[in-house]
Amino acid sequence: MSEFDQSENQQKFDRIIMGYCLDMAQQALGKTAPNPMVGCVIAQNSQIVGKGFHPGAGHPHAEVLALKEAGEKAKGATVYVSLEPCNHYGRTPPCTEALIAAGVAKVVVGMIDPNPLVAGSGIAKLREAGIQVVVGVLEAECRQLNEAFIHRILHQKPFGILKYAMTLDGKIATTTGHSAWVTSPAARSEVHKLRVACDAVIIGGNTVRRDNPLLTSRSSKVDNPLRVVMSRSLDLPTEANLWNVDEANTLVFTEVESNREFQQYLRQKGVEVVEVSSLTPAKVMANLYDRGFLSVLWECGGTLAARAIADGAVQKICAFIAPKIIGGQIAPSPVGDLGLIKMTEAVELENVSICAVGCDYLLTGYIIFD
Ligand SMILES: NC(=O)c1ccc[n+]([C@@H]2O[C@H](COP(=O)([O-])OP(=O)(O)OC[C@H]3O[C@@H](n4cnc5c(N)ncnc54)[C@H](OP(=O)(O)O)[C@@H]3O)[C@@H](O)[C@H]2O)c1
Ligand SMILES: [Zn+2]
Repeated sequence: MSEFDQSENQQKFDRIIMGYCLDMAQQALGKTAPNPMVGCVIAQNSQIVGKGFHPGAGHPHAEVLALKEAGEKAKGATVYVSLEPCNHYGRTPPCTEALIAAGVAKVVVGMIDPNPLVAGSGIAKLREAGIQVVVGVLEAECRQLNEAFIHRILHQKPFGILKYAMTLDGKIATTTGHSAWVTSPAARSEVHKLRVACDAVIIGGNTVRRDNPLLTSRSSKVDNPLRVVMSRSLDLPTEANLWNVDEANTLVFTEVESNREFQQYLRQKGVEVVEVSSLTPAKVMANLYDRGFLSVLWECGGTLAARAIADGAVQKICAFIAPKIIGGQIAPSPVGDLGLIKMTEAVELENVSICAVGCDYLLTGYIIFD
């Protein structure tokens, strides 16, 4: 075999193992905030001798778990890890030190740490210790998996995803406000998966009044995101699915001094209530950032969605499109008034993709911020 073939084969092997790291990392989807999802595999002569993924804050890092499994076999081995090993004392000692102490020969890194203040320092430390380091294997996939973590680090805000379901003529409900259901069961189960991946789901008061949603992933309480309601009036029904916190927790943001009696009623039910002066999506996102959240799913109607976009609280759009037409001049659409008057002012998306989900379509894209 020529040297060229050998390196081709090596690269192919590296990509396969990094793919495996990513699959493992994903097992902690929605559970790692404020930490990233990370997977690690240790290979000795192309045999996997150790593997691990970071289960979440307060638990060991992926590298530590993989090194533990590999034991003595880590000596002279190649370590694959989807994110640059950490090089600082946090809750746990730095992984760079553990890798050096274990005597590994080579480290293959998916992507460097997104934090500009630490980026590259872990790699430099490993190289100084004489370890060979390869960077950027399946980098795009690694970045995609941790898009929310990257956004949180770079912008000190959670990553916002606006999800909605609309008919082909752009309506999210009928003229009477009826909206069950715009899409098929397959699309709705896709929404449940999206919820598992997010730390919070947000709606406005009107959606509580009209739809009385559950907003769970229909699985266990640990998998359910925090359900967040933004209501300035606090003119909300006494009986609502969201006030039952057995399956998932609920947090209500409202204006200072709005309907104190109802606030008390909610607290008695186990619902957290936070008063904010001049309630806006940006203020809610700042509060959720302080709670360590990575990703937040906006599942609101058009009025609040427009405010969230205008506030820079939405980075990604997940639009489910049902091949049906409901019509109606005043039937609501996914995004209310943004104050734009010319088509040239439109909010544009990039990295757009579309896929079929049952008989519906899911269009995903990222808002371009200029
Ligand atoms: N198909 C879909 O994907 C989908 C998803 C969600 C909703 N919907 C439909 O959308 C309709 C409701 O739409 P909506 O636009 O009224 O949505 P919404 O999700 O209820 O948001 C509007 C509400 O948010 C609250 N709010 C708090 N702070 C605000 C702020 N700074 N700016 C604006 N609102 C703020 C207000 O509640 P208070 O009035 O309580 O103060 C306001 O009425 C319903 O018919 C529902 O069925 C459809
Ligand atoms: Zn670490």
